[in-house]
Amino acid sequence: MHAKVVVVGSLNMDLIVRMPRFPVAGETLAGHGFATAAGGKGANQAVAAARLGATVAMVGCLGDDANGTELRAGLLAEGIDCSGVATVPGVATGIATILVDDAGQNAIVIAAGSNAEMTAERLADHDGLLAAADIVIAQLEVPTATVEATLLRAHELGRTVILNPAPAVGPLPESWYSLIDYLIPNESEAALLTGIAVDSPRSALQAAQKLLANGARRVLITLGSQGVFYADGERHLHLPVEPVVAVDTTAAGDTFVGGFAAGLAEGMPLESAIRLGQQAAALAVTRPGAQPSIPHRHELPA
Ligand code: RIB
Ligand code: NA
Repeated sequence: MHAKVVVVGSLNMDLIVRMPRFPVAGETLAGHGFATAAGGKGANQAVAAARLGATVAMVGCLGDDANGTELRAGLLAEGIDCSGVATVPGVATGIATILVDDAGQNAIVIAAGSNAEMTAERLADHDGLLAAADIVIAQLEVPTATVEATLLRAHELGRTVILNPAPAVGPLPESWYSLIDYLIPNESEAALLTGIAVDSPRSALQAAQKLLANGARRVLITLGSQGVFYADGERHLHLPVEPVVAVDTTAAGDTFVGGFAAGLAEGMPLESAIRLGQQAAALAVTRPGAQPSIPHRHELPA
């Protein structure tokens, strides 16, 4: 299969508890309910790209447990090529404990588990997938050395390289910027990358200018309910979104990234690809769970 979009990244089982508000340290709080759902930023972006029309392959690591079996089956059911997804013996599949409050906001704690086994050596085993791709997407939920190897190799192969720097912990290595075609942080990630507080299209422009000065070719900053801010060396634009009632924002950013990549893979002009990602993300926040909330193409306005 010729995979146009290859995602190198994490797969998690999400353990979700809904609650009226987030607890404070030392507090025991009664939640409303518990659910599990397939997640992980890498897998979510792969599913979003597939549901929005792209041919997709995933590169990542699962553990040899029930969660791993379920996550693999889920991706296969989406038609995603999982030949690059290893099952690592004796390791637990990654999990994310997700708290969702009544306002639809989330707080997430990740135990990387098998995602920490996604080494640069394993990536090299699947070089053929990168070689056959048009677009390669990475995030920051697998080891940093693997992300770097992904960016280097995909750039060397002349692929379109997308980095969603999530979850960010601080500035990116400077040498990464020139390897990235589309850098897609959210507000808080853009702030961690630049030291500029980002909460508006105006502050997004300042942050984007700094990221471009670092060497990124194109920057897309997702601003939640304020839409998306785009900038390259020549122009910048702000694409607002229609307001929606958020039920669960988990995977909103992932849905945007995957949808945007699907649009690019299809040959859409930039603004149309951004709109596709935005429309998909707007629908995803109105539904619970990461992968269960990601829409199919036919659910979106034409
Ligand atoms: O971006 C959302 C994802 O972050 C969740 O699915 C969770 O697994 C964490 O990786
Ligand atoms: Na959601």
